[in-house]
Amino acid sequence: MQASGESVRIGDGGSIGSALLAWYDVNARRLPWRVQPGEPAPDPYGVWLSEVMLQQTTVAAVRAYYAKFLVLWPTVEALAAAPDADVMAAWAGLGYYARARNLLACAREVTRRGGFPETEAGLRELPGLGAYTASAVAAIAFGERAVVVDANVERVVSRLFAIGEPLPAGRTAIRVATDTITPDQRAGDFAQAMMDLGSSICTVRAPRCLLCPLADHCTARAAGTAEAFPLKAAKKAKPTRTGTAFWIERDGAVLLVQREGKGMLGGMRALPDDGWSAKANGHAAPPAAGEWRAAGIVRHSFTHFDLELQLLLCGSADCATLPKGEFWPVDAVEAAGLPTVFAKAARLALANR
Ligand code: ADE
Repeated sequence: MQASGESVRIGDGGSIGSALLAWYDVNARRLPWRVQPGEPAPDPYGVWLSEVMLQQTTVAAVRAYYAKFLVLWPTVEALAAAPDADVMAAWAGLGYYARARNLLACAREVTRRGGFPETEAGLRELPGLGAYTASAVAAIAFGERAVVVDANVERVVSRLFAIGEPLPAGRTAIRVATDTITPDQRAGDFAQAMMDLGSSICTVRAPRCLLCPLADHCTARAAGTAEAFPLKAAKKAKPTRTGTAFWIERDGAVLLVQREGKGMLGGMRALPDDGWSAKANGHAAPPAAGEWRAAGIVRHSFTHFDLELQLLLCGSADCATLPKGEFWPVDAVEAAGLPTVFAKAARLALANR
């Protein structure tokens, strides 16, 4: 599709694409899930897995998880056959746990179909596979000309074309502009080149425009305003919620529960808590009679709210009314795969029991 947005200089697309690809040929980062320019196409499983992990997470944080997943589940079929709890536990610490549930649902459907669909439209039909992932996998694994827009691309393109509409509404104009510069060939290299440029040169603060292969094409740079882009609508203040988690210990083991369904941290192992959520504070009442002692407060920031989680400890809870769960050896609690907020609470408990 050719765009006609007022801030897009039609006609520059080809030269931007070739300048960027020439830069990428020399400067492509070596990443475990990536093939270098000119090498045969990568394994779609690795591309898909890495792209799901990389959403909302840095390359540095993803490396170890990616390696661990490939050791545990070297193929999409192996992942599809894994018990849910094992995958959720292996994902613990990466955050945004709905991604892990979606990953599993998708792996099972791909296995049922006998392989990944090879087009963006086909990939989009898979459960839990969103627009970004479909475009990235189609371009990187299958060489389709797909328009791939992540946060790095948003920054680069909003500067190149000085897109004046703030995010989130400005995403449409950014996508249209990205379409005008995406080449017909090597769309996967182009997308990854944009990502590398965004993370190494066209950075959020202090972009290194003197080193940029696209500097001569960049409207914001010419105006001396690169750092101001992408423009963002004023953010709503994040609310702070309060909640309580409960450390119930017996014979060197701590009670862990499995969180319900698809809600926050759904399906993850966790300490019992008082039902706090993004929308409401917890009720703070302990789940069983006993002698409870305050061990301190854990602070954790979620996307839409901050949480202050009080931790109460109990060594003699009334077993009759305990929530359903499993007693997990305290010495091995790090291996339980607790999501970060509860891993922080567990560390606090260990320091205060
Ligand atoms: N961020 C998301 N996908 C990426 C990729 N393929 N390479 C580098 N950074 C990324």
